[in-house]
Amino acid sequence: MARILITSAIPYINGIKHLGNLVGSQLPADLYARFMRLRGNEVMFICATDEHGTPAELAAAEAGVPVAEYCAEMHQVQFRLGQGFRLSFDHFGRSSSERNRRLTQHFAGRLAEQGLIREVVEEQVYSRTDSRFLPDRYIEGTCPACGYERARGDQCENCTKQLDPTDLIDARSAISGSSDLELRETKHLYLVQSAFRERLEDWIESKADWPVLTTSIAKKWLRDGDGLQDRGITRDLDWGVPVRKGGEDWPGMEGKVFYVWFDAPIEYIAATAEWADENGKPEAEWQRWWRTDLGADDVRYVQFMGKDNVPFHTLSFPTTIMGSGEPWKLVDYIKSFNFLNYDGGQFSTSGKRGVFMDQALQILPPDYWRWWLLSHAPENSDSEFTWENFSDCVNKELADVLGNFVNRVVKFGVSKFGAQVPQGSEWTDAERHCANAIAELVADYCAFMENIEVRKASRALRSIWSAGNEYLQAAAPWSAIKTDKERAGAIVAFSLNLINLYGRISSPFIPDASAEILKAMNSPSRDWPANGAEELRVLAPGHRFEPPDVLFRKISKEEVAEWKEEFGGGTRSESR
Ligand code: 2FM
Ligand code: ZN
Repeated sequence: MARILITSAIPYINGIKHLGNLVGSQLPADLYARFMRLRGNEVMFICATDEHGTPAELAAAEAGVPVAEYCAEMHQVQFRLGQGFRLSFDHFGRSSSERNRRLTQHFAGRLAEQGLIREVVEEQVYSRTDSRFLPDRYIEGTCPACGYERARGDQCENCTKQLDPTDLIDARSAISGSSDLELRETKHLYLVQSAFRERLEDWIESKADWPVLTTSIAKKWLRDGDGLQDRGITRDLDWGVPVRKGGEDWPGMEGKVFYVWFDAPIEYIAATAEWADENGKPEAEWQRWWRTDLGADDVRYVQFMGKDNVPFHTLSFPTTIMGSGEPWKLVDYIKSFNFLNYDGGQFSTSGKRGVFMDQALQILPPDYWRWWLLSHAPENSDSEFTWENFSDCVNKELADVLGNFVNRVVKFGVSKFGAQVPQGSEWTDAERHCANAIAELVADYCAFMENIEVRKASRALRSIWSAGNEYLQAAAPWSAIKTDKERAGAIVAFSLNLINLYGRISSPFIPDASAEILKAMNSPSRDWPANGAEELRVLAPGHRFEPPDVLFRKISKEEVAEWKEEFGGGTRSESR
């Protein structure tokens, strides 16, 4: 049994996430966590809301509520939506927690002790109209790299370049729209990332097994030197982790907070500590996941994220970890994703374009979305959601291939043999051939899941379902029953075993349908099938089952037309 630590990038608190966000980190992380648990490993699966920084402040201001209240409310909303999609986090934390405050201050103190923090007096953009500094998203303008006109002060959404507010062309305040701006002096802390260039280069170079998407982004940032500039890790804001050095004041930094990207990844650790607190566990229980001197040396740590998050996880956060001089666990594998587009354009939170998590669950159950999103995960390139593609996929793969197989077998079986596995004659070549094919496909499926090749894993699973259909079609129990009831019984028994196997292996993708199948089949085991073809004999003659309800319904042409209309224009009402 291995120990696997899994983190999903923590979603910003500002509003409900769209399906592109979901498939870029939380959902594939859940797929992997479920699979790893099913294989008998000890898993710690962590996510949280990213509550600091300008996105939170701006959203709270727009909603007209105090930022702490806004965050508490939206955390609950995101938590419930996570449950709605069956995201099986061990803990869904909050970056505004006491644990994260203390740990962030601890890391800053350690970095200062190691000489890795510089105090810099610099000029920052100040808005005379708003009487305040305008860090990060408080300022908008044209990206100097790609010309995108709505670039934010921290990063260009269009080309992913990390920016400083002073880089923007034609800058204006995001609060008032005013361009009455000036530069004023203020003191900030800078993390000396440049000291880690060689260590980071060697570290990334050693990760030959990482997805090309991850390493190519990391190497680009290292090569351009851009990503390794010393970066400001503090801001002139009210909301955030107050700048302190461990437990002590930091002279000259009163009234300032850490930059959201400094404290957000530390929340991965803090959320694990929150998990221990909530479950009444001692410190050692979370430390054994994170401290290599306290048991984490045999942990495999896997992170999931969208490609825009890669620079922070391959350069900045590792600098924090390495620079602390303490034995904290570094990530072992980073799975990153391209973007999912929506019907010919981009999903956009600010533009409220696309399908959002709450809307999705209002129209269909989670398994439908999980299957489409995961089987179309944007792994090697961006991918696109269209309503036609979604409904075709659901109708063919879930309703026809899997759902219909289950339905036909169970209906026929119950009508001819009652709700129990028939005795039947011995296996013939047809069963042996199918069982061998399935055993091979299950091995492929397992290997793809181990390697986190999400689309390939979904194709292998679909082939496993199809193999059952092909077998049933060829074996044709409805014909056999006319001349040889024992043969028909054997086919039904074998097919019921296939259904049972499907329930056991499909749960990472479609947990609700799988649970339904296993309950209906009165399945004696929920573990991963270990014995190849022999697993197709586990439901023995006489084993009783309950016919399940229809697992998947078809999506009609009318619904597609209606939803296209409803979501097509890309506007939605405010989501609070
Ligand atoms: O892109 C985002 O949604 C960020 N909130 C991700 C942060 S991931 C981590 F560093 F915590
Ligand atoms: Zn740009």
